[in-house]
Amino acid sequence: MSGCPYFQRRHLLLTNKPSKAEEDDSQAGINKASKGGILYGDYLQLDKIVTAQLLQSEVKGDKIHDEHLFIVTHQAYELWFKQILFELDSVREIFISGHVRDERNMLKVNTRIHRIVMIFRLLVDQFAVLETMTAMDFFDFREYLSPASGFQSLQFRLLENKIGVPDNLRVPYNRTHYRDNFKGIESEMLNATEQEPSLLKLVEKWLERTPGLEADEFNFWKRLEINIFEGLNRENEKIKKMPDSEDKEELAADLVKQKELFSSLFDENRHDHLLSKGDRRLSYKALQGALMIYFYREEPRFQVPFQLLTSLMDIDTLMTKWRYNHVCMVHRMIGSKAGTGGSSGYHYLRSTVSDRYKVFVDLFNLATFLVPRAWVPKLTPNVHTFLYTAECCDSSYCSSEDSD
Ligand code: HEM
Repeated sequence: MSGCPYFQRRHLLLTNKPSKAEEDDSQAGINKASKGGILYGDYLQLDKIVTAQLLQSEVKGDKIHDEHLFIVTHQAYELWFKQILFELDSVREIFISGHVRDERNMLKVNTRIHRIVMIFRLLVDQFAVLETMTAMDFFDFREYLSPASGFQSLQFRLLENKIGVPDNLRVPYNRTHYRDNFKGIESEMLNATEQEPSLLKLVEKWLERTPGLEADEFNFWKRLEINIFEGLNRENEKIKKMPDSEDKEELAADLVKQKELFSSLFDENRHDHLLSKGDRRLSYKALQGALMIYFYREEPRFQVPFQLLTSLMDIDTLMTKWRYNHVCMVHRMIGSKAGTGGSSGYHYLRSTVSDRYKVFVDLFNLATFLVPRAWVPKLTPNVHTFLYTAECCDSSYCSSEDSD
């Protein structure tokens, strides 16, 4: 009777307990740990990690409960910074070694950049846990940790440099260079990241090679310029034919602005001027490549590059959100007192939540230059085929006999 499935189900409903058979299944298994090999704690070196919370207030004989959370939160951030740097270095290496020319590697690049985005999402939200500490609780132990400060976070600065925050756009504080907080090997590491190509520079070189930009072939830029100004002239003709009205005046004024805007887009000297001021970061050619990818993003060959550009903007957005959430928390914890690292604190940090720190700012601004689909140059059959299929030499899926 007890073997009957109906009885078993009824028994489970009545007792809410797993049947004998289920119970046995859930407890099946072999304790592999007894057979040797590395164990959980050793593998993760937990003895180092979970004993690394040394409360300064405790050292001074006055244990303050919330200091534990303060330390663990910072350590968790630093561990995630480490993972971001690890992914970032591997992506930079793919670009530096030229492996990015094999388009199949773009998936790896995209996956890792997307992983960075997901980690940043977590980091932006993580401040909420530390915010369960009140300003008064923080005040109780703040004196013990001076002069330690986020200014001394080596990994954060490495991360900014490797993504591409330029030195000359950093907000100065007390006329001190950010590198003055570091000595010896740490200072050298930072110096090196300022010399090495940042993610921005590597993406720039990659964008400059966007197929379709070549002046002697498709010449996307020239075609786009012609199409846009023809489109604007057609709009002008339509407006001229309208009866006089306020609407007509508004449309005409708007058109003048549009012409100015697009004239600036096609003016290389102006681009160079904006570049020198830091208002643009990508070279003129790279900007063209990015716009081309925006317009033809549905073509199979541009889909992954388009996703990459989107993720790069996500990184910028999330870093800005990180700075914003951090500064809000700082304001709540110390008001407008100076920081332990010697800056004005809240006021300094607030000034870093700006476009100066947005590395891929051009990708955002490109949305200003989007035009009706009808104005986008039609792809020639050659370029269309090229963007539709992978080049044989790029792919191991094509046999060498085919390419002969
Ligand atoms: C109660 C919590 C916190 C307070 C009151 C605080 C306060 C500050 C202040 C005042 C500064 C400006 C530098 C200075 O003069 O010291 C700063 C910078 C910084 N903090 Fe925090 N912080 C807190 C939590 C965190 C956490 C959890 C992290 C995570 C790693 C962090 C990372 C940083 C970094 C990287 C900087 C440099 C930012 C820059 O210069 O752009 N801080 N913090």
